[in-house]
Amino acid sequence: MNKALEEVKLTNLSLKNRIVRSATVDPFGNLDGTVSEEQVKLYEILAENNIGLIISAMSYITPAGKVGREQNAICDDEFIDSHRKLVDTVHLAGSKVILQISHCGSGSMSLDGMPPVAPSPVPYPGSDVVPRELTVPEIELIIEQFIEAAVRAKKAGYDGIQLHCAHQYLLSEFLDPVYNKRDDEYGSSIMNRFKISEQIIRGCVRELGVSYPIFIKVNSNTAGNDDEYYNDLIYVAKKCKELGVAAIEYSGYNFTPLGRKGLHNYYLDRVSDIRREVDIPAILVGGIRSFKDMDTVLDSGIDMLSISRPFICEPDLVTRLISGQEEAKCTSCSKCFYLYRKEGRRCIFHEKLD
Ligand SMILES: Cc1cc2nc3c(=O)[nH]c(=O)nc-3n(C[C@H](O)[C@H](O)[C@H](O)COP(=O)(O)O)c2cc1C
Ligand code: SF4
Repeated sequence: MNKALEEVKLTNLSLKNRIVRSATVDPFGNLDGTVSEEQVKLYEILAENNIGLIISAMSYITPAGKVGREQNAICDDEFIDSHRKLVDTVHLAGSKVILQISHCGSGSMSLDGMPPVAPSPVPYPGSDVVPRELTVPEIELIIEQFIEAAVRAKKAGYDGIQLHCAHQYLLSEFLDPVYNKRDDEYGSSIMNRFKISEQIIRGCVRELGVSYPIFIKVNSNTAGNDDEYYNDLIYVAKKCKELGVAAIEYSGYNFTPLGRKGLHNYYLDRVSDIRREVDIPAILVGGIRSFKDMDTVLDSGIDMLSISRPFICEPDLVTRLISGQEEAKCTSCSKCFYLYRKEGRRCIFHEKLD
């Protein structure tokens, strides 16, 4: 049997294989923040098709950290019921699902004409909107909002949570010196830059118990001093191990241009180096497109394989690969970021709607 299809255990979470659907926002959420019937159907198809672990689309922990109109919310108890329906459907279809919780920092939508908030007044990549620097009491409030969101996730039945600390959103902005220019207890050293995430994880363990699986997703690289950032990641991995984090998913700040170049397994070398240095399960995401890619990744010591765009194109991709399809159709063009709004279809390989 292919190694990717072997059963695996992460802390106390038993998974039927090593294949993960990486968090992926879809355009189907209800405008009030609840999970829609269309989303439940989408997750049912994913769950029926041999994915070991599904990571949900990112749900916002406060309206101030919301990134898109159709994004799901987990910022209030009123959202728990609609999430529970999604979770129950995934479980009935034989898979597991964890909730990704996020605050999009400088990338967040403006509320009432106010600028978004961030660790420092550094704009989101490609934007000229200067965010407002968070005060320490505001940071403490955000920590509580993350913890409360995690408690709701457990109440909804999710098998765990993932903190979104990647892609230049709030927690990743704290982590990365390109975006974090603070000189207080949340800036400067890596101890301080990871502190907000650490405090959230500690709060989650306190409220949810040590056996509830907590995952995080981080960038494996930076547009700044990447050698120093490597050492930062070693610190983060060691700290996560100490805190009892189930696994770290490694993405990167530049997965879209790397994909368009036709590359595969973008972050493998960096992540296998970290995995060798620190014994905490690693999930690699970015450019994994076939069983051949998966073998290369697993042979390098990585524990789990995570895939996003190919499941937009082919939600039943794993079933297809098992049946003999050689690789995903997805070309990593990244048009799925805006295609639905323009053409009413999610992928260039889907039929155009009139
Ligand atoms: C349309 C779209 C939505 C995404 N939404 C999320 C998200 O909610 N949270 C997240 O961490 N990453 C998100 N990502 C990034 C993916 O999880 C993944 O890290 C990235 O696409 C690289 O993996 P891939 O090469 O398998 O697509 C999204 C990507 C796309 C294309
Ligand atoms: S639009 Fe492009 S990147 Fe997105 S799923 Fe389709 S082929 Fe892949």
